[in-house]
Amino acid sequence: MKRIAVLTSGGDAPGMNAAIRAVVRAASYYNLEVYGVERGYIGLIEGDLHMLSRRTVSDTIQRGGTILRSARSEEFATYEGRKKAALSLANHNVDGLVVIGGDGSLRGANELYNDFSIKTIGLPGTIDNDLGYTDYTIGFDTAVNTAVNAINNLRDTMSSHQRVVIVQVMGRHSGQIALHAGLAGGAEVILVPEHPVDFDEVANVLLRGNAVGKTSGIVVLAEGACPLDEAMKELKERTGLSIRSTVLGYIQRGGSPTMSDRVLASRLGIRAVELLKENKGGLVVGVKGGEVIELPIADALAIKPYFDEKLYEQATMLSL
Ligand code: F6P
Repeated sequence: MKRIAVLTSGGDAPGMNAAIRAVVRAASYYNLEVYGVERGYIGLIEGDLHMLSRRTVSDTIQRGGTILRSARSEEFATYEGRKKAALSLANHNVDGLVVIGGDGSLRGANELYNDFSIKTIGLPGTIDNDLGYTDYTIGFDTAVNTAVNAINNLRDTMSSHQRVVIVQVMGRHSGQIALHAGLAGGAEVILVPEHPVDFDEVANVLLRGNAVGKTSGIVVLAEGACPLDEAMKELKERTGLSIRSTVLGYIQRGGSPTMSDRVLASRLGIRAVELLKENKGGLVVGVKGGEVIELPIADALAIKPYFDEKLYEQATMLSL
């Protein structure tokens, strides 16, 4: 293996730049050339690749977003699209590809491997932490910390006005961001897609809090649990409390990555390059119990996303 490429795909996540940097510098360490692909699989289809050097990735480890930019490609979902992507790699004499992204992006990496024997290595890059094969995805820790800081601010103003706030966080079908941000932010209620929403129970918790002298209430709502306007309506009706709402949205996707995300991205980026150097492909890397692991992409994606039920119970135990 002489030349590899790297791309970021799907929703961006803080730490993607740290991962790109690790891939570029590890490759240089192992005497491999690296090409960067712009705009994920779209750029791969269009042949938008350029050489990266150690200096190209200077001053990037602390930056959110992705210097290679990212996209979701419909064309790549077709065999014809993937064929064009494979051709671009062949035209640039690229032997291996590192894909940094979420489950859809990793599935794409597997298809390139299966259909065209391209040596692909996937890195989990998504704020959602919804890939069951790895304890953490790159970007999750930063997104949760961003949400916790927002919850801290909300607590100040909600306390002053004796209000309840429903704060909606991202996560798609996963409650991981809500669970961790809710626990760390001291939320009274955490609503996640992994559990049915019971508005009577939520209303009881808020009213009980009010009765025992709480001056504010925080309800963290995962976007996949239920629509925000429904939660507002049901809880206003049931409690009669003064309730406001805040959607954190894309704020969670930006910002300087935390130490954890930078370290994770660096470790996984290096391992990806080492695997390519060993001529391996069709694999994802991740972290389990603190150790860097690798396994076939198909096996990894077949593992159900993990939700920590015990932590969910513990968050409830501490909330009143
Ligand atoms: O997967 C990351 C994520 O931010 C999800 O939490 C969210 O549901 C989705 O992406 C938003 O997607 P888009 O960037 O296409 O609006």
